[in-house]
Amino acid sequence: MNSLTIHVLTIFPGMFESFLRFGILKRAIDKGLVNVCLQAIRDSAFDRHGTVDDTPYGGGAGMVMKADVLAASLKTIESFRLGKRDNAPLVPVIYLTPQGKHFDQQAANRLSMAGEFILVCGRYRAIDERFVELYVTEELSIGDFVLSGGEGAAMAVIDAVARLIPGVMQDFESGMEDSFQDGLLDCPWYTRPEIFENLKVPDVLLSGNHAAIKKWRREESMKRTRLKRPDLCENVKENDFEQI
Ligand code: ADE
Repeated sequence: MNSLTIHVLTIFPGMFESFLRFGILKRAIDKGLVNVCLQAIRDSAFDRHGTVDDTPYGGGAGMVMKADVLAASLKTIESFRLGKRDNAPLVPVIYLTPQGKHFDQQAANRLSMAGEFILVCGRYRAIDERFVELYVTEELSIGDFVLSGGEGAAMAVIDAVARLIPGVMQDFESGMEDSFQDGLLDCPWYTRPEIFENLKVPDVLLSGNHAAIKKWRREESMKRTRLKRPDLCENVKENDFEQI
């Protein structure tokens, strides 16, 4: 069975509690398909105050998360190991930062097959660069904006990745047909009533002609992608577009 273990290093594990208790994620966890292990960084602090940050060398506003505390927290993860040859972590250690590579559906697919990975949530001004140098294998960003911490980004990554684990979605097909899964945006969808404020559901969807419906949905996906996200069209095979 293709299951997934995600470790999260955070100073606010409580932020994840309700997030993990609802919907698809709850079901994935209940079924044992996804395992999320929250690691409170503060538990690895070296003093009785639970200090996780300090002022930056060279001065400047804001605080920096301590490399020694972060490393100690990482090492509490039982499966965390360094490779004998290059001393690099064997399990991916992913630091969430706006400086990272953009997280997209392709990255979600890749991580869903990793078996296990570790997400590091930063807070404050920065985390000590030596921790990044020694222990981080990859940096990911969820967009060109700055959040107050990596927790929101970690939740986005966990959600996007968990739904790709086979057995998590009730109808796995619907996961495969999501926007982006084939490089295109999803088509428009409708439900009852047939007429809402003078707007009628497209006739083809009421026709019962499954081949025609399939064709219409594919064409709408392509039209939408061209209109709303022309940048995505570059990645889609030209002959897909020739149909319209
Ligand atoms: N931490 C703060 N901002 C972030 C972002 N945009 N993506 C990932 N992690 C972050």
